[in-house]
Amino acid sequence: MSAFDIRKVGGRIGAEVLGVDLSTDLTESVFSQIHEAFLQHKVLFFRDQDITDEAQLAFAGRFGPLTQKHPMMRTVDGAPQVIPVDGEDQRANHWHTDISFTAAPSLGTTLRAMVLPPYGGDTLVANAAAGYKDLPAELREIADRLWAVHTNHAEQPRLDTERGAEVRKAFLAKRFEAAHPVVRVHPESGEPSLFLGGFAQRLVGMDLRESRPIIDVLQNYVRRPENTARWTWRPGDVLIFDNRNTQHYAVNDYDGHQRVLHRVSITGDVPVGLDGKSGYTILEGE
Ligand SMILES: [Fe+2]
Repeated sequence: MSAFDIRKVGGRIGAEVLGVDLSTDLTESVFSQIHEAFLQHKVLFFRDQDITDEAQLAFAGRFGPLTQKHPMMRTVDGAPQVIPVDGEDQRANHWHTDISFTAAPSLGTTLRAMVLPPYGGDTLVANAAAGYKDLPAELREIADRLWAVHTNHAEQPRLDTERGAEVRKAFLAKRFEAAHPVVRVHPESGEPSLFLGGFAQRLVGMDLRESRPIIDVLQNYVRRPENTARWTWRPGDVLIFDNRNTQHYAVNDYDGHQRVLHRVSITGDVPVGLDGKSGYTILEGE
């Protein structure tokens, strides 16, 4: 195995970690370097790992307590904290931040390659702190004052199959809504970022029609190519992204092929805005 090293994959986001075997217990010193790189690069990629669900759970658990069972997604038998991300269930080809429709969205998410398509199915991750930094001062002043309502009922891509319809129905069976500051301060680094994504349906104080173009203008700063990393999956790959200041997108270009990843997430805290005010629940599964 190569020596321990952390190599950037792009100028603004993403790094590959080399020389680490995630099937073993990481030493405090190695983990602290990984943790520091996680905060700095926001998404870390690990190639050539030969690990089980248990090892993925253990690795994710080093970052904090694991997210318990997802409110409406199916989980792996006997492992309620492992969600199979399966292209036959749904295809997340929209920019989003996981479970941002709850008051305390995940801190981070790990994904592990299980079944990969022969082509396509890359994962894109965008740096929402860079998106915020890129805003012209005039727009930043507006963004700083905005709040958004996030809901699982926001417009999302649809998978036009029987199974896709079933999964979608389960995903929408209960309605979740939470309000969050559009500019969130990272609890560990103190860095501000745009906290929007596909579940951000409308802005507080505005209706859907008024909100959409403003959200789109801000989103365009997050998803500009310079602010993203694109990962082409290989067998044995594992990634972890910081869900507090990134958005991600699963490219849906693998036709009818299978694509399955295992997802394990880490419990996050309630987003806090520049003025110190915290996000809050509006509806919790009603
Ligand atoms: Fe996701």
